[in-house]
Amino acid sequence: MNEKQAFESVKKQLKQARYDHTVRVVETATKLCERYGQSVEKVRLASILHDYAKYRPSGEMKNVIKTTEWLSDDWCNYGEAILHAPAGAALIREELGITDEEILHAVVFHTTGRAGMSEIEKIVYLADYIEPGRKFPGIDDVRDASEQSLDYGCLIALSNTVTFLISKGHPVYPDTIHAYNELLKTRGLK
Ligand SMILES: [Fe+2]
Ligand SMILES: [Fe+2]
Repeated sequence: MNEKQAFESVKKQLKQARYDHTVRVVETATKLCERYGQSVEKVRLASILHDYAKYRPSGEMKNVIKTTEWLSDDWCNYGEAILHAPAGAALIREELGITDEEILHAVVFHTTGRAGMSEIEKIVYLADYIEPGRKFPGIDDVRDASEQSLDYGCLIALSNTVTFLISKGHPVYPDTIHAYNELLKTRGLK
């Protein structure tokens, strides 16, 4: 699937505002690739497709997750906001024929992160977080950290997310905690 086909496929799935967000994620991810010397092809395709399942009903997303053997059922136990990431990966595989594991992983973990993220996963995760349309407390700290390194950008984004989720009394998906702990360790514990 080429980029033009991917854009056409997601346009049918998304509301205009979410499509515009997707375009900004692709642009931001492309800049991160240039800055950190990562090849753009897979990153851009994963970025185009990352929110593919955003508007599927939650019941459908849970069903997709539970019937996809390479996805953990545990995704269904942490609130609805994270469902579209794993469900989206399963759906782009089934409906669009995307089988590249690096692209699928980047879509699965674009909301939560995980320990052991590839460079591609880090870039898509971060681009989704810092694209210019994003406005929420702490976002400028994440943008500044992203200028220093991919790992530091992801660490501050994860820290921000964990703090936010706890402040609202929401559950935190375990992979997010694992990702935070791993990147904190690589920075040196304080
Ligand atoms: Fe998303
Ligand atoms: Fe997104």
